[in-house]
Amino acid sequence: MARKLLLTPIRRLGLELCCLYAATPPAFTLLGVLLYLMRIDGIDDATWTGAWSALTAYGALRMATHETGAPRILLTDRPRSLLPALHGISALLLLTLFLGPHIVNHLLGLLGEDVHRDVMTWLRHFYRNAAVQPALVAVFGFQVISGLVLLCQPQSQPISPFQVLQRASGLYLAVFIPAHLNSVFNLARRNGVETDYAWATGQPAGLLDDAWNIRLVPHYALAILLLAIHLACAVRVVLMAHGVRERTANGWAWILMLAGGVLDAAVLAGMLGMRL
Ligand code: HEM
Repeated sequence: MARKLLLTPIRRLGLELCCLYAATPPAFTLLGVLLYLMRIDGIDDATWTGAWSALTAYGALRMATHETGAPRILLTDRPRSLLPALHGISALLLLTLFLGPHIVNHLLGLLGEDVHRDVMTWLRHFYRNAAVQPALVAVFGFQVISGLVLLCQPQSQPISPFQVLQRASGLYLAVFIPAHLNSVFNLARRNGVETDYAWATGQPAGLLDDAWNIRLVPHYALAILLLAIHLACAVRVVLMAHGVRERTANGWAWILMLAGGVLDAAVLAGMLGMRL
């Protein structure tokens, strides 16, 4: 017989909103870039406040009008879907073929812009190849869409802190990836701007001394950290599925998160001007 698990509407809405709040840094960057591309100046704050007020009003209305008593979302033991496995395989592909080298490339900014440029020029032979680049963007598209589908699936109760972290970090990446690609392809390359380290670090003003650029600090810092957290949560699930005890799997997840945090701090230190 189908096992029924419940998640009340109010809890689900709360979780959805918390996950959305986690994605505010890339959403604010995306808003800034889109307004800039539309040549609309100086209304970032007003648009942002308006959009969040509307969302908060929507959340409040839904909370006020939800049917009390009846848990609405029922999860049955459905046949196992292939989607989580496909999401994981494409993540592995992206990590090994592009993201790993991409992030190490940014880490090398600590050794100076020349080292960063040399490595990037070498890597571009691969990822800017006419056949590879569209495939890469398509796999990133699949990653985002499959992730959103997984996020919208009803969840079993109780949801663990690791699951909350995985959902919030996933939503962050689902906003960050399109925002980042829009900046690279539409804002910069389409207008003939070289997307090198100087561009990424907002030169000549830098990331900290410019009222627009400063939004890129949390935007980039959280991208690497939450990528590591998202991966760590996934590794934990895979380990437990292979019979590893929960305590041990949790331990590995914390180690991966910590390693991601150290990597993130080092990349950011380079982007903010530190040199070894
Ligand atoms: C500190 C964090 C990051 C910085 C500073 C950064 C910066 C950049 C820069 C400068 C480019 C242009 C590269 C080129 O012209 O060859 C680029 C491209 C790209 N980045 Fe990032 N990135 C960061 C993190 C990420 C993350 C976390 C992801 C994905 C989750 C990502 C996905 C991409 C993709 C897909 C491209 C396009 C590659 C292509 O040209 O085909 N980046 N990024």
